[in-house]
Order: sequence, then structure tokens, then C-alpha cells
Amino acid sequence: MDRATHSLERDEMKFFIDSADVGEIRKALALGLCDGVTTNPSLVAKTGRRFDEVLAEIVALRPGPVSAEVTALDFDGMIREAHHYAAFGDQVVVKVPLIVEGLKAVKALSAEQIKTNVTLCFSPVQALLAAKAGATYVSPFVGRLDDVSEDGMAMVEQILEIYRNYAFETEVLVASVRHPIHVLQAARMGADVATIPFKVIEQLAQHPLTDRGLQQFLADWEKVPKS
Ligand code: G3P
Repeated sequence: MDRATHSLERDEMKFFIDSADVGEIRKALALGLCDGVTTNPSLVAKTGRRFDEVLAEIVALRPGPVSAEVTALDFDGMIREAHHYAAFGDQVVVKVPLIVEGLKAVKALSAEQIKTNVTLCFSPVQALLAAKAGATYVSPFVGRLDDVSEDGMAMVEQILEIYRNYAFETEVLVASVRHPIHVLQAARMGADVATIPFKVIEQLAQHPLTDRGLQQFLADWEKVPKS
């Protein structure tokens, strides 16, 4: 990514799918609405499958960057897991929690050219630290902030402002997306990526007036003489 990303000259917004379900990822790819995949331990647990097996299958679909999250809490453990996941292929992005040990790990991994996604970000200053550590992506969790009566998208706005001030290369990946309004706001603010659950991807296409209008057109078409 060049340094223009956070200036006026921008790449198009990317949609990642927030899922470890290979079936959902295939469907999003078929829709042409999947530029990458994010997983986390909770999403992996839902599949009931071994993560190595799931990760290999996802990577084989070549969906773009695929985030795989480390679960160690110490630097050495994080680096060990990061190397394990990075060996699955170039598309793998190592997801690291936004804690002090995690920031150290991100710095080391970025020196090794291993891509990182700093997760569990809940404040603009945390995002500033992720950028200074050289993260490829930072994941502000908007839905979880909304859940505790804070404004998740206001956090994203401030992160974008800070990154643009200094032309940081870290991409803002809006996470914990719960509904289409989060996607709308992310797009209006110019966030680089939104990682979206499959259900919300489907909701984005829906509008009751589209369905009603289509029904009317089809009913009227029946009245048109065919010969
Ligand atoms: O992948 C991380 C994030 O998107 C989790 O979302 O809905 O569990 O807060 P949620």
C-alpha cells in the first residue's frame, strides 16, 4: 500500500468476511463480495473443527488476506504461533491482541515482513500504538463499544484522522460490525476495510422497496401481450 492511502487519493473499500465457516466464505466469494477473511478463536470454536485444517482450507480458496489469531499472551509464544500460521502461505495475516506484549510482537513480525492485524482495539490511542508498531491492519471493535454505550464509529473517525495526519500505512479494518449502518458509516468515513459477518453482507443487498417494486414489475409484465 502506498502512503496515499490515508490521503484523498484512495484505494477502493475492501470487504472482508468475518467468519471461519468455509461454506460462508465460499458464498461470499461467489457473490464477489469477499476481499479477505478474518477469524478469531470464538468463530473457530463455532465450526467445531481443528483450526489448522480450517485455515488450510480457507487459504486454498485464495480469498485475499486471511487473519489467524494467536492465543499466547507472551512475546515468545506469540512469535512461535505467528511463524506457525505464516507458514500456511503469503495470504496469512497474524492477528495479535492489543496488549503490550502484542505490540512488541507486531514490531518484530513487521521487521520480518510478516503481516499483522492488531485486534481488540477499543480506543484511538491504542490504534496509534498499533500503527507505530508497524501493524498492517488495526481492528477497532465498533459493535462491542456500542454495546457498552460508547460510540464505536466515533472511535473509527478519530483513528482515521490520526492516521491521515501522519500518513501511517496501517489500514483501518472496522471490526465487530453488527448491521448495515456500521458499513455505511465506515464507507462514508473512508475506512480501508470492513470485516462483515455473512448475515450482514446479505442484509446490505436487501431493501423492501426493491422487493415490492420487483413484484409489481413482474405482475405488470404478465399484462404485456407476448404475441
Ligand atoms: O473478528 C473480530 C470481531 O469482528 C468480532 O465481532 O460481533 O464478536 O463483537 P463481535
